[in-house]
Amino acid sequence: MEGTAVVLDYTVGESVSAFLAKKRQLLIGGEWVDAASGKTFPVYEPATGEIIAHVAEGEKEDIDRAVKAARKAFESGPWPNMTPSQRGKLIWKLADLLEQNLEEFAELETLDNGKPITVSRAADVPLAVDLFCYMAGWATKIHGETIPISVPYMPGAEFHAYTLREPVGVVGQIIPWNFPLLMAAWKLGPALATGCTVVLKPAEQTPLTALRLGELFQEAGFPPGVINIITGFGESTGAPLAAHLDVDKIAFTGSTEVGKLIANAATGNLKKVSLELGGKSPTIVFSDADLAVAIPGAAGAIFFNHGQCCCAGSRLYAHKSVFDRVVDGVSAEAQKIKLGPGMDPTTEMGPMISEEQMTVVTGYIESGLSEGAKAVVGGKRSGSKGYFVEPTVLVDTNPQMKVVREEIFGPVVCVQPFDDDDLDRIAQEANDTIYGLAASVFTTNLSVAHKIAKKIQAGTVWINSHNVFDAALPFGGYKQSGWGREMGKESLNLYTQVKSVVATL
Ligand code: NAI
Ligand code: MG
Repeated sequence: MEGTAVVLDYTVGESVSAFLAKKRQLLIGGEWVDAASGKTFPVYEPATGEIIAHVAEGEKEDIDRAVKAARKAFESGPWPNMTPSQRGKLIWKLADLLEQNLEEFAELETLDNGKPITVSRAADVPLAVDLFCYMAGWATKIHGETIPISVPYMPGAEFHAYTLREPVGVVGQIIPWNFPLLMAAWKLGPALATGCTVVLKPAEQTPLTALRLGELFQEAGFPPGVINIITGFGESTGAPLAAHLDVDKIAFTGSTEVGKLIANAATGNLKKVSLELGGKSPTIVFSDADLAVAIPGAAGAIFFNHGQCCCAGSRLYAHKSVFDRVVDGVSAEAQKIKLGPGMDPTTEMGPMISEEQMTVVTGYIESGLSEGAKAVVGGKRSGSKGYFVEPTVLVDTNPQMKVVREEIFGPVVCVQPFDDDDLDRIAQEANDTIYGLAASVFTTNLSVAHKIAKKIQAGTVWINSHNVFDAALPFGGYKQSGWGREMGKESLNLYTQVKSVVATL
């Protein structure tokens, strides 16, 4: 393995250096302002552990200011008076600006998060652009219905009844660090398409692209207060947003543990809640699978984005007739992966997001090994600078082990054999988890593929692939993986509410 990280002397664009050089403030009511406390916090580059920027540390008072600005923008001024077409055009303009600045956003994302620059360029930024374009189109297509009604206790009466689909109001959005820009897009796109206003809290590890996006919202011409951005920490910034009595809806992506805190915090005013939480997704390789597809597919399912994906295929089930070939193949793929700083264009896997996350992941590996699992490849930290972990393939695991039950959020897969083609038994094992975010199935038998897709309790099932995302495709979790769906037409339901209007003629 090209294990040890080498830190390169890479150069970044001038606009990126200029952005990093200046203390980054909060966006409230269309103005960039310091935190009320004047506090800031450092942002680290995970490949080196060095400080690359300083951002304002928003707290409760700043959340209050931002919610006030969002409320004002929701109720008065240009935003509520804009036509759906005008709103759609603004969102499209934002998408255009983002696309024009693709390289700058890709560099910022890679510095901040550590992911390979090739991935930021090819996936994170283009997917965010696409999401905004998709949602721009929806702005003019959100509407109620006319409904013929009968009302049996009013014989002979005539009615005209219809529904209005209205924006839910001021929305708080709390996002994680694994896809910082893309998660901001998933949240902001439907909120803006439906006419809501937003207070966005980026993850403390990765606030930079959301802040730069704030500048583009201003450049695109969004009215002040429609998008407010408060950087800060979970308990001191996220929690007051989730609990705020004048926030109508809270949308969260992150750990299941914090998702439960958010749901509790929302009870004060019973604000609407949507949650996109953790996963422990199964990848199932049947005996008839095309291994030339299944092996790279299963490897990509776990190793993409360093395993820091809520939908990572972290439990791999391979039929006993192909088990050895799958283990060998996925292990060979793991060994080929080139670790390094994200800014090196030859890097295929970057560091974990933080020292804390690296310690969590290596701790899980150690717990698996101490319970009798065996690492075919990987099994420890890579190098001593930055937060790199070796891509790891574990065998000899059992369904009781922590590594099989809990979300690791790192490049660690547990491979287990199954010994028959009884779909119910396989589905039962795949479903033996508190989570239900995603799954993938590799088989050349169409009937098996669609039958198992029905039996698996997960929000997404991929057949002969993994990690296929699109702005038009709903994404979200069954069971403790969450509430509601993001992207697609489904996501609009989370940001609107329905009013029935009845006229007696
Ligand atoms: P986290 O769930 O603590 O953080 C996610 C976001 O929630 C961040 O913006 C954070 O500031 C905020 N937050 C934290 N505590 C909060 C609170 N009490 N009230 C309101 N907001 C709060 O995730 P963390 O600590 O970064 O990672 C821990 C584990 O969570 C990971 O190892 C992984 O298993 C899981 N995770 C899952 C993600 C997903 O995409 N489903 C994304 C990030 C983490
Ligand atoms: Mg946390």
